[in-house]
Amino acid sequence: MTHAFEAEGLVKRYGKTTALAGIDLAARRGTVLGVLGPNGAGKTTAVRILATLLRPDEGRAAVAGLDVVRHAAKVRRLIGLTGQYASVDEDLTGTENLVLIGQLLDLRRPAAKSRAAELLADFGLAEAADRPAKTYSGGMRRRLDLAASLVGRPDVIYMDEPTTGLDPTKREDVWNIIRNLLSDGVTVLLTTQYLEEADALADDISVIDHGRVIAHGTPAELKRIVGGQTILIRPADPDRLAEAATLLGAIAGRTPESPSRGVITVPVDGDAAFTEVVRGLDRQGIAVTELSLRLPSLDEVFFTLTGRHTDEEAAA
Ligand SMILES: Nc1ncnc2c1ncn2[C@@H]1O[C@H](COP(=O)(O)OP(=O)(O)O)[C@@H](O)[C@H]1O
Ligand SMILES: [Mg+2]
Repeated sequence: MTHAFEAEGLVKRYGKTTALAGIDLAARRGTVLGVLGPNGAGKTTAVRILATLLRPDEGRAAVAGLDVVRHAAKVRRLIGLTGQYASVDEDLTGTENLVLIGQLLDLRRPAAKSRAAELLADFGLAEAADRPAKTYSGGMRRRLDLAASLVGRPDVIYMDEPTTGLDPTKREDVWNIIRNLLSDGVTVLLTTQYLEEADALADDISVIDHGRVIAHGTPAELKRIVGGQTILIRPADPDRLAEAATLLGAIAGRTPESPSRGVITVPVDGDAAFTEVVRGLDRQGIAVTELSLRLPSLDEVFFTLTGRHTDEEAAA
């Protein structure tokens, strides 16, 4: 058994909604699997099945080779779960929250206390340890929630959108904490709506849409498919948009998109294209008010893979 967890052909229906339509996911021990998908793609449903909280209608899932339905109690001892919505008790302090969880996990009180202190220090919450969680900022709560999932020293951790709603600097704090965890050899399933996040943390990424995997690979492989980076241009004179689009299209070898008025974007394979675009704009005397190079957004990844935007329903 080389996989820390695996899911095969998972199907889950809620009435007429098919949340999972035969999804396959797997992670090797000690690696991070990023599950990237928009709202409603089925991320939380898949996590809940892998965490024994929900039964699949079809398919199977296992943690360390143990079936999540038949061996649910054993599986629970191996896993930690941290959700999109913090599960901490607002009225308890940081320490009390973690000690309570330790005791639920059958730790004796002194052991629970020392584990709590250790985690609070690791997560930069030592100063706030004796304050009720309701006084914590969003970033602090998220860190407390992550700490809570680690009290039992799980081998496998499911992180369901751990940074959604956090501002970019707080997001990076959480990323650093996750990176530290990884040095301990745990296996992580990380769901996210941000390609940057999957790129920063995951060894492999499964892109999911409507309960199915639509692309899978290493971050490098995926970026090769969807274009490693995106160039964005806003010409100062909107009348020159078409000219700029022709230039951008010729350099990138792809047709640019116009995600909003006056702006064009196109995925490119390497940084060199950016220099060429700057030279071309200069040569043609096209002034710009905005020019940037960034990783594609989830929406752009989706558009490349499916021809749809993330907010368009596949009504057809
Ligand atoms: N308890 C539920 N009852 C009915 N529909 C649900 C329930 N949970 C999820 N769904 C539906 O299943 C689909 C997948 O949801 P979810 O797994 O929460 O996606 P994600 O976490 O990727 O946003 C969505 O269409 C959602 O509305
Ligand atoms: Mg979700």
